[in-house]
Amino acid sequence: MSLNFDTMKKVIEGKTKIIYENPAAAHTVYMVFKDDITAGDGLKHDLIEGKSGIDWLTNKNIFEYLNRKGVRTHYISSPQEKVSIVKRLDRKINLEVVTRRVAAGSILKWGNIAEGTRFDPLITQFHYKDDPLHDPMLDDEYIEFIIQSKGSHEYQQMRDINVQVFMILEKAFAHHHIQLVDFKLEYGLIDGVVTLIDEITGGSFRLWPYAKKEPNLNQQNVLAELDPKGRLDKDTYRMGGDLASVKSKFQIIAEITSGFRDLA
Ligand SMILES: Nc1ncnc2c1ncn2[C@@H]1O[C@H](COP(=O)(O)OP(=O)(O)OP(=O)(O)O)[C@@H](O)[C@H]1O
Ligand SMILES: [Mg+2]
Repeated sequence: MSLNFDTMKKVIEGKTKIIYENPAAAHTVYMVFKDDITAGDGLKHDLIEGKSGIDWLTNKNIFEYLNRKGVRTHYISSPQEKVSIVKRLDRKINLEVVTRRVAAGSILKWGNIAEGTRFDPLITQFHYKDDPLHDPMLDDEYIEFIIQSKGSHEYQQMRDINVQVFMILEKAFAHHHIQLVDFKLEYGLIDGVVTLIDEITGGSFRLWPYAKKEPNLNQQNVLAELDPKGRLDKDTYRMGGDLASVKSKFQIIAEITSGFRDLA
């Protein structure tokens, strides 16, 4: 029997998902994926028919894998296409937590760093979530100040979970000869505990295929080892790629992540 959301109470509708109350279990909500795709903090906007089902599958594959690996996430199950059940947030944390292995995208604007520069250890940054302000990065010293003065252990926990998840997914994509370049994740408090929430889909990360069979990824700059032009992620859309190729790349991500169930 398929769920009918017409009669269900909306908690919130965002750019890519709608959250509905779950009358059968109040501590959970339904997360329903939409066909919308946006970029530039919502300024660029399109509909890609079928994207909701593709993103739903990618998200399901990744969160099932992370749960299996023991990461603390909100994800419970996916009762039907486009629909997942997740633990309901007590409090949203208004941050995007970004972890980077390889320099790409917005970080190139800061400090004149070369594209392809490899970060080891990983770099993790907090961005304040605010579209009109373009999600500004928060200063590390400022975050340390908050931790010291307010005893907000949540920052350290978010950093730790971000790095944990990055290492898990970097390894999983490596099995498919793809480098996880960077990603952004979101967190909330559930039962007083910092928990990974929201979605992980084609719009959450950069994915660059390997340029050769056995790339040397232990160098200061790995750009020549990778194939940024073959990118599978939302940069295709940001850079003005046609919607059909954006969709087919997201479809490839869904297929690749379906293989995560065979990983240890
Ligand atoms: N476990 C959860 N319980 C309740 N709400 C959640 C949960 N996980 C995610 N959400 C919320 O679902 C909403 C819709 O997500 P969507 O990604 O479409 O929003 P958005 O427009 O992109 O805004 P945002 O910039 O906050 O992501 C967001 O407000 C998000 O915080
Ligand atoms: Mg969002």
